[in-house]
Amino acid sequence: MDAIAVTPVRTVSDETYYQCWYPVCLVSEVGAATLVGVDMLGTRVIVYRDASGKAVVQSAWCPHLGADLSQGARVEGQVRCPYHHWRFDSTGACSHIPTGDRIPAAARIFTYPSAEAWGLIWLFNGTTAAFDVPRVPGATEAELACEAHLRGIRTSPGEIALSNGVDFQHLRTLHGLQTTEPEEIAVRDHEIEFRVGRAGYTQHGVISGVSTFAQHLTSGGSNLFMLFCGAPIDRGRRRMFFMVGVPRMGGAQAERQALDNLRGFVERLLAEDEPVLESMRFRRGTLVASDRHLARYFRYVSEFPRAAPPGV
Ligand code: FES
Ligand SMILES: [Fe+2]
Repeated sequence: MDAIAVTPVRTVSDETYYQCWYPVCLVSEVGAATLVGVDMLGTRVIVYRDASGKAVVQSAWCPHLGADLSQGARVEGQVRCPYHHWRFDSTGACSHIPTGDRIPAAARIFTYPSAEAWGLIWLFNGTTAAFDVPRVPGATEAELACEAHLRGIRTSPGEIALSNGVDFQHLRTLHGLQTTEPEEIAVRDHEIEFRVGRAGYTQHGVISGVSTFAQHLTSGGSNLFMLFCGAPIDRGRRRMFFMVGVPRMGGAQAERQALDNLRGFVERLLAEDEPVLESMRFRRGTLVASDRHLARYFRYVSEFPRAAPPGV
């Protein structure tokens, strides 16, 4: 977990974030006995697995005096606070107070809707998930050999980085890709979807919530799947992940080679984007007709529901 450990951020009560799925950490970082703390959404969460192996994501702050529960321990499948050893179960209820005091009804920690997908553990910023965890167009997870990676901490606003997904001009100008752009993009309540095709090349992209862009490319007979996502740590920083996937090929070596090639391609795209994104002073400036999909995306973002994390 060292790679994503950052200085704890204390609650800023007036902070709101999009009511969507956000990546918390890599699946590989949470084993059966792990208790992990992650700073995100201006607060802190804990992540661990319950007895059935399901990933549980809860507020990290103990309702007694506010100790950081990630500093505690897993005891009999529960989380024990490091300070006075109150214990909490996977529903967030306090199950034990060592002094024998009656357990107050308010002695609960908030349990986020959570999911495991594409090599990542996700939480939904809300009391119930308003829609499904981000999808990758054109494939189910079972159909792919895929692997997720932490890209790092970035300071550019997530909304701007995500706009890359429908910024078709920059694919040609910044990345030098020979692409076309769709006539239309389908804008729904919680996602944006588009398809582009020409001889020998197709692109099928989906923006989910305001955290994730995933796409399926076909090029020269290859099927390439990728997902880019990030979660705010606080107002100034976000933690960025990406996933690469290829169809299962029945041979570990062939899959390894295809994944390595795709990862190289994705890391090149990210390395080209980041110097621009990290240095720009964003404004909705002078848009032209070719920016219509971008303009629609910015309206989608501005209308997307926001809320403070329930667990702060
Ligand atoms: S602060 Fe957690 S038990 Fe007291
Ligand atoms: Fe890009």
